Amino acid sequence: MGGRNKVSIIGAGNVGATTAQRIMERSLADVVLFDIIEGAPQGKALDISEAAPISNSDISITGTNNYDETADSDIIVITAGLARKPGMSRRDLLEKNVRIVKDVTEEVIKRSQNSILIIVTNPMDLMTYLSWTVSGFSKQLVMGMGGALDSARFRFFISQELKVSVENIQAFVLGGHGDLMVPLARFSTVAGVPVTEIMEKSQIERIIDRTKFGGGEIVELLKTGSAYVAPAAAITEMVEAILLDKKKIIPSAVYLEGEYGIKDLFVGVPVKLGRRGVEEIVEINLSNEEKGEFYKSVDRVRSGVEEIKQILGQK
Ligand code: APR
Repeated sequence: MGGRNKVSIIGAGNVGATTAQRIMERSLADVVLFDIIEGAPQGKALDISEAAPISNSDISITGTNNYDETADSDIIVITAGLARKPGMSRRDLLEKNVRIVKDVTEEVIKRSQNSILIIVTNPMDLMTYLSWTVSGFSKQLVMGMGGALDSARFRFFISQELKVSVENIQAFVLGGHGDLMVPLARFSTVAGVPVTEIMEKSQIERIIDRTKFGGGEIVELLKTGSAYVAPAAAITEMVEAILLDKKKIIPSAVYLEGEYGIKDLFVGVPVKLGRRGVEEIVEINLSNEEKGEFYKSVDRVRSGVEEIKQILGQK
């Protein structure tokens, strides 16, 4: 292995390719972009490589259909999956993505025994559980990307509402990704002041709702696709925290073994990310109301995991 870090991205679709671009722009690591479609990862990698001189970036980006190129990665990002097509039921889609994420995990871990896995494919909380189970990796090395995106969306909406710089805004989110998320307004601040002190309850609720359905709002506008720029930025934030050993606190889906009273489930909580992966789970005391919302979200994640176990049992 050379001196540079290596990140492999499985799935060279919108999220995967945009993540590769972002990693290039920040010169964080050499990137391998893998897809089963021939030509697509190669073409996208070449296009991104040709932008590298303008970004003063010397990293290499390789597009491939061969898993061997992913060998000895420091981080593997899994975005491979299918989008829902007309006529396809939620269950059909889930079964297909379970198969894809299972196969992908088996292939990548054969070639990268010590890597960190970041799972992005939806339903992310469930796919992270699946990938972790299949990998047999320690819980510190497997995490799902969700909270970083939800929290960025929440911060953006607060900044719009208050006309304050996004730099001043910190957001705190828990729970499942997307409409399962539980933003904690009490711990979300504007220049250190909790938003509950500056905003009306109804105003906060409106923003929370918009954040929960942030993904859906974009799908409605795009009609034929889903969000990928903010998801790629959120993945890159996690990659950067890990590779630069920043010990940055980023909400991520991680395996809980009693933290927050939850066992044997991947759920979004604030964690400290560094070179060893999930280095610490940050636990805070929740009010009864907050607990109620959080556990509702957790219950839905748990029933999803049961469904996945059932699908795996069928095979
Ligand atoms: N192995 C590798 N890649 C695969 C496989 C597989 N078995 N099956 C599908 N893919 C690839 C597709 O060929 C496609 O290029 O995964 C890519 C997915 O890309 P897009 O369809 O563009 O989806 P994208 O918008 O990038 O989202 C990817 O992230 O945010 C989530 O919900 C989103 O689950 C979705 C994932």
